[in-house]
Amino acid sequence: MPVTTNVALGVGGGIAAYKAAELARALMERGFSVQVLMTRSAEEFVRPLTFAALTGRKVITNLFSASSAEDTLASAIEHIRVAQENQILVIAPATADLMAKLAHGLADDFLTTTYLAFTGPVVLAPAMNTNMWNHPATQENLRVLRARGHVIVEPDEGILACGMVGPGRLAEPEIIAQAVANVALGAANRTSAKQDLEGETVLITAGPTQEPLDPVRYLSNRSSGKMGYALAEAAVARGARVILVSGPVALDAPRGVELILVRTAVEMRKAVMDHLEEATVIVKAAAVADYHRSNPPQQKVKKTATRLSLELDPTPDILAEAGRKKGDRLLVGFAAETENLIEEARRKLESKNCDMVVANLVSQQGIGFESDENEVTLVLRTGETIPIQRASKSAISHRIFDQMIKLRLALHSST
Ligand code: CTP
Repeated sequence: MPVTTNVALGVGGGIAAYKAAELARALMERGFSVQVLMTRSAEEFVRPLTFAALTGRKVITNLFSASSAEDTLASAIEHIRVAQENQILVIAPATADLMAKLAHGLADDFLTTTYLAFTGPVVLAPAMNTNMWNHPATQENLRVLRARGHVIVEPDEGILACGMVGPGRLAEPEIIAQAVANVALGAANRTSAKQDLEGETVLITAGPTQEPLDPVRYLSNRSSGKMGYALAEAAVARGARVILVSGPVALDAPRGVELILVRTAVEMRKAVMDHLEEATVIVKAAAVADYHRSNPPQQKVKKTATRLSLELDPTPDILAEAGRKKGDRLLVGFAAETENLIEEARRKLESKNCDMVVANLVSQQGIGFESDENEVTLVLRTGETIPIQRASKSAISHRIFDQMIKLRLALHSST
């Protein structure tokens, strides 16, 4: 890290608050400058002095706690200063109450107002009783915070202060500090990333399609959309205009993309063809259903005692059509295979006139479909195949764009 990264460490009110002191130390050992913010209830568990002694800085405790009018004004804008001066916000322990406030944008103390004013990456390390952690309200808040792009350092399982055994114990401070370090590295890479897609319009498809069988049922697949959304985020970070055509997914659109929501393969085809002209790059990460029911009945299909056969028709092959119409646009297809990865990918590349096919084996555990990670091989029109080791979908996205830029140069110089 060339310059010191400032980290705001928000401490929530839980038994685990004392571990935040170890976290402050672990962060400082990694070269971060740490500003501690405590909620009122955190002060019930640990004294601000502990953190002040460790970090050598005044600990910020409560909004509107100042005694004079001048102090009140200063503290009323201090959360903005803290939000601007720090590059990462980490909250540990993030209690159930804090997570609920963050998820819903409530801002009634220093930490929560700082959170709302903060635009950088957020790391949350939850800690609470197992039942509170498992409660649908907490899980729903967790989903919202995760979808917002925050890094969640999951609690450990073990014996909790309340005597229960299960998930809820704050992750080890070293693990949380490492998560913060990873985020700092990612942010540094992004800010130093060249704006090498400036001037490009990248049209990306993501997620599954849903093909209705009747008014209440549909055919679909396990695609989560994470790969396509990561590609969209990476392209925006590198300066592209991004049009994201997305099937139904449980993700929030990355900042700065133009989102077009579709449901069926037919709708996706229309959205892609409507925007093909404007695009300079087309990336087809969507898992489009290959078959649909052409004229689904208007009424729900009733159960009978006999066997039911479904007659399905092929959906339009959007990638193949884009391949026919692409001109000198770069076209990137995806190939999810269970065997003969490279041969199948090359066959798709040729038959659909792609410039690159991103191939992955979907039979591997822990990567691919619903996962945050992937392992792929890039099969290029130049004849090269480039294996990319298991990595986050964000890192893979950047590798795809790196290769795409090289490929454009190679194709350009050979014409
Ligand atoms: N694709 C598409 N339109 C379809 C089906 C697939 O545009 N109707 C695109 C996907 O977005 C992906 C690529 O085609 O980029 C490969 O999808 P895949 O399902 O692996 O390929 P298929 O063409 O269906 O080939 P096969 O069934 O032979 O594996």
